[in-house]
This record gives sequence, structure tokens and C-alpha cells, in this order.
Amino acid sequence: MALDDLTERLATRFQPIRDRSAWLVEPLNEADAAVQSTPDASPAKWHLAHTSWFFETFVLIPNLPGYCHFHPLFGYLFNSYYDAVGARWTRSQRGLLTRPTLEEVLVYRRHVDNAMAELLASDVSREVAALILLGLHHEQQHQELLLTDILSLFARNPLCPAWHKELAMPAGKAAAFCWVECAGGIAEIGNDGKGFAFDCETPRHRVLLQDYALANRAVTCGEWIDFMADGGYRTASLWLADGWTASISEGWQCPAYWQRQGDDWYEMTLGGLRLVNREAPVSQVSFYEADAFAAWRGARLPTEAEWESAAASQTQQITNDDRTLAPKPQSGEGLTGLFTDVWEWTASSFRPYPGFHIPPGAVGEYNGKFMSGQMVMRGGSCVTPSSHTRATYRNFFQPEKRWQFSGLRLARTL
Ligand SMILES: [Fe+2]
Repeated sequence: MALDDLTERLATRFQPIRDRSAWLVEPLNEADAAVQSTPDASPAKWHLAHTSWFFETFVLIPNLPGYCHFHPLFGYLFNSYYDAVGARWTRSQRGLLTRPTLEEVLVYRRHVDNAMAELLASDVSREVAALILLGLHHEQQHQELLLTDILSLFARNPLCPAWHKELAMPAGKAAAFCWVECAGGIAEIGNDGKGFAFDCETPRHRVLLQDYALANRAVTCGEWIDFMADGGYRTASLWLADGWTASISEGWQCPAYWQRQGDDWYEMTLGGLRLVNREAPVSQVSFYEADAFAAWRGARLPTEAEWESAAASQTQQITNDDRTLAPKPQSGEGLTGLFTDVWEWTASSFRPYPGFHIPPGAVGEYNGKFMSGQMVMRGGSCVTPSSHTRATYRNFFQPEKRWQFSGLRLARTL
């Protein structure tokens, strides 16, 4: 793409993406935006400030002559994990930052946006354009985290607050379960140089696949209730040893946000406490639970190479409207719902692709240093912005984490 076109596209995309972050916090009050539910999650206000810090630190300070820092300490408060940039506030204590206020953070965002508008009105180099594009995808990552972290916070509150009380829960029936067979052989996965990708999606490389099959859709809540009723959480032989230990020590008996009332299961959603929809994909389960479920069904989780190879051959559109914000029943022919409802745990650990090199500079810390002890999830969830989703995307979390919209799709070897 010509540099002029790239800059123009960035200028067009920049403000709508930034504005969506501010839209996400409109229903929140000052306290909602400041509290941190767990060390893994961050306050909504911190997400808003950190994404602005990213543009300020990596784009504006080096490239916009005369740019003025909004505040001399914001670099310390809102640096997430970049050692090359300097010292930072402790992650687990982000919820102690009652100041700056939400309004002050929103003013900080406007300060950064105005400076970015000035920069985007000029000719920027291809390197700077690439950094701005990275910043926009970073912002979209944090939009998803902002929602999962707010849900984590509200799910701990006995009053069961809603992000939006009127949020509609998708209805409909899931497709009947079936296997979709996929031919093995030598396949290629990873970004092919077209379109945006994070560094960890490169280089594109060959993999050898056996003949395999994937489930036509993600595992549903109804199927998960069957797993629970059949003693899935009480049968050690289904579980990996670390998973069994985690399930006992954490007292897992159901997905993270479920609760039983009488004969019915309810779950915390962004619309508050709602009856579990048996037709919708199950979410907020850990890798360990997903693996145990697959064992219970006599199946397994797909590798990320199997998942991507199958997903790349699909012609389906990514149809998430970015406002549904709850997993919907997956219907239709063939592989369905690959990108739209829940991230799907895979059997693959998050390790570098053959030939991967950590990029130079501070942004080299974006992914590479986390390639240990984490499992890959593929696809995208109901809170992933659709323009941020692609078949090569490698999301990753530690295997015991369960606060994301994380589910599973079964696989088997033919
Ligand atoms: Fe970040």
C-alpha cells in the first residue's frame, strides 16, 4: 500500500477506534472505573490512560516536535510492562490509583488525540505509520480487556451490577453437533505479509498435519451442564494433574461466573445476572477445564495449526457487530462461529514460530517475553472488535485463567 493511502486510512480509523474506548466507560461511575477486581484485571480508567500512554510514548514523543507531556508522572503510572521505557507502578496496585480521576484521564485522552491529529495531518514515515497501526490494535486489545475486567469486577459483587441493564442476550438454537473433516498434509500458517499482524504471528511457515476433524461449533452451555451433571468436576481421571490441583484448590464446580438458584443456572453477563442459555457457547472456563471436557467427550483440543488451517480455508465473514457483547448460539453449515463468540483454547503452548526474532526496541517487549507458561487461544470473542480479528491471531493466557470469554471447540484425529 502506498504511504499516502496508509496514512489516510490511519487518519480515518484513528478517532473512531479511540472514541469506542470512551463509549465503553460511559455507563460506569467513578468507583466502577477505579476498582481492580484481581491482580490480572485492571481498572477501566487505567486501560483508558495506558492506551493513551502507548501513543504518547512510542509515537508522539519521538515523532511530533514540541509535543508536551500531559503529566510528568503518567509515564510511571501507565507503563504496563516495558522495562526499556523505565520504572512503573506495580500492576497489582493499579486499583489504588483513585487519582487521576476518570474525568482527568478523559482530558489526557483528548490531549493525546489532538496531538495525534496534528501528526496524522503531516507526512509520516512507514515506520511511524506501522507504530500507529500497532497502537490502534493495542487499543482494541484493551477495549476487550476493559469489558472482561469490568465483568470480573461486577461478577464479584452480590448486587450483580450490569454494564448495561438493557443489553440483549442473543437467542436462537445452536447447530446440531457434527464433525467437519479436514485433510492433513503440509499446510502453511502465520501472517503472509498482507494486513496487520502482531510479531508473534510471523514468520509464515510450514506445518505437517494429520487428517483431523473439528467440531462444527463451540461447546455449548447445555453440553457443559451435562459434563457437570456427569461428575466432570469430580472425576480426577479426566484432568491434567495441574488442572486437578487447580480445580481442587480453587473449588471449581462450574464456569467462573455461573451460580445455581434452585434447579436453574444463572451467569453474570455484561447485562447483569441472566439465566444460562443452553444453546450459547460456554465461556469463562480455563484451559484445564476445556481439556477435561474434551477428555470426557473422548476428544481433544485442536492444535493452533489445525485451527488456523481450517479457519483460513473458510470463506465466512466475521460478522460480530461489536455491540452484541454476549456469546450467541452458533448456527449454520460447516465450521461456524470461529471468530465471534468465545476464544477457543488450543492444545498449543505460546512459543515462537520457527525463525521468529523479537523486534528491536521497546515494542519488542510486546509479545516475545511472554512465550513461556501460556496456552494459545484462537478466534475471537463477543467483546473482540471485529476489525481486530483474523485467522492468524494468537491470543494467549496461563492455563488456569478463566476471566476471559474463553471456551472450546472439540477436535479429533482421523
Ligand atoms: Fe497494553
